[in-house]
Amino acid sequence: MPTANNAIRMTEIVNVRTESPTVKTFTFTDRLCGKAKPGQFVMLWLPGIDEIPLSIMDVNNGLVSVSVKAVGDATRHMHNMEAGTLVGVRGPFGNSFIESRGRVLLVGGGTGTAPLLFLAKQLSAKTERLSFVEGAKTKDELLFVRELDGICSGKNLITTTEDGTAGLQCLVTQPLGELLDKERFDMIYTCGPEVMVKKIFEMTEQRKLPLEASLERLMRCGIGLCGSCVIGKYRVCRDGPVFTAAQLREVADELGISKLGFDGSRIPV
Ligand SMILES: Cc1cc2nc3c(=O)[nH]c(=O)nc-3n(C[C@H](O)[C@H](O)[C@H](O)COP(=O)(O)OP(=O)(O)OC[C@H]3O[C@@H](n4cnc5c(N)ncnc54)[C@H](O)[C@@H]3O)c2cc1C
Ligand code: FES
Repeated sequence: MPTANNAIRMTEIVNVRTESPTVKTFTFTDRLCGKAKPGQFVMLWLPGIDEIPLSIMDVNNGLVSVSVKAVGDATRHMHNMEAGTLVGVRGPFGNSFIESRGRVLLVGGGTGTAPLLFLAKQLSAKTERLSFVEGAKTKDELLFVRELDGICSGKNLITTTEDGTAGLQCLVTQPLGELLDKERFDMIYTCGPEVMVKKIFEMTEQRKLPLEASLERLMRCGIGLCGSCVIGKYRVCRDGPVFTAAQLREVADELGISKLGFDGSRIPV
């Protein structure tokens, strides 16, 4: 059934900010997406190029921001866009993270850190303690470190890089294991590469801890019609992108293992 948020709206990019050598943040105005919650995503149409799903990184007085890594045709095209470029917006789509009080831990990898920054901003004043673990391959790819450091009061942010150029030299899961064994958390939120999400799911399951994870799948329609984003019985665009530990248990045989490719065949994640 058509809904207002599925109607495409044309809007101008009002600001472009470079976050790292491969990631830029684009800001535009949109009334509907200006009310989005952390975890929700937009379908951004680049006329003549493609339409792609992007997580909302921030909303502020009607301004909406997305942070985009250049990986292929559409995202590289975006990296050449300047303020004033017209784009089409549908959304916001999908569910959102459920706000938890008490002690929360957020674990982000790559551009998966973007929706978690949005969540961290909303939770910071409401939680007893907010901790963040962020991992990347190298220093240049660690995103939003200054903002996260401020939100975590400089104490509860752990960064890791695979090459040791910043933070601890290890995978994000190493300090996470130590943290989960040492401290009590009321909720753990994660978003990032699916192999990382799967590992974190296994770690929280072993310790019987609650988890919400945001997943990515190939998306075309964004509204539950085309089936390209399925994982088990779920459509990630409509039933997710945020899934609870109980839902992840139901799709454990696909999580971090396989997904549908653009031609509909099953491919490795
Ligand atoms: C819910 C959701 C939220 C996302 N949020 C962000 C974000 O905040 N920032 C960000 O940089 N990226 C995000 N992505 C991934 C982003 O959509 C893809 O990087 C983008 O579509 C790639 O398009 P391309 O033409 O540049 O690359 P392509 O040449 O099409 O592909 C390059 C890579 O991106 C993957 N990809 C391609 N199309 C899609 C698609 N429609 N959906 C998912 N993956 C795809 C391919 O598997 C391939 O590995 C998100 C994806 C989903 C599903
Ligand atoms: S993208 Fe079409 S059903 Fe999810």
